[in-house]
Amino acid sequence: MNFLIINGVNLNMTGKREPDIYGNRTLEDINKKISKFCSDNGDSVEFFQSNIEGEICTAIQNAKADGIILNAGAYTHYSIAIRDAVASIKTPVIEVHISNVFKREEFRHKSVISEVCKGVICGFSENSYILGIMSFKL
Ligand code: DQA
Repeated sequence: MNFLIINGVNLNMTGKREPDIYGNRTLEDINKKISKFCSDNGDSVEFFQSNIEGEICTAIQNAKADGIILNAGAYTHYSIAIRDAVASIKTPVIEVHISNVFKREEFRHKSVISEVCKGVICGFSENSYILGIMSFKL
């Protein structure tokens, strides 16, 4: 299978920002771990990160993958544009979060994207992405 991992706003700061919440691994470290997991399983993977809402929508619209793993960051909680982009494609999308958003501030408990996603995984640090990929194998 071919996967596309999309990271949204501020995820490029992973490993540098709030390490008590998001850990010490950089996005590059996380992507390396995901790449190894995929190649060990005979899958291919591509990565996209942007802090710009419209660019994330375009990446979703143009995706050629069998499955998308999407961490939209804070956009999760209010971007109708990203929600509509997910709804506009047939490729299944798994919403993921590094942190357990339900253990955090109330405004993080609401996702406008979940309803149009195949499933949601949160709270397993960088393994949330790996679990998202594994869900396609079940
Ligand atoms: C996040 C959770 C969001 O609430 C937050 O705005 C992020 C990261 C996560 O991966 O835990 O930027 O999506």
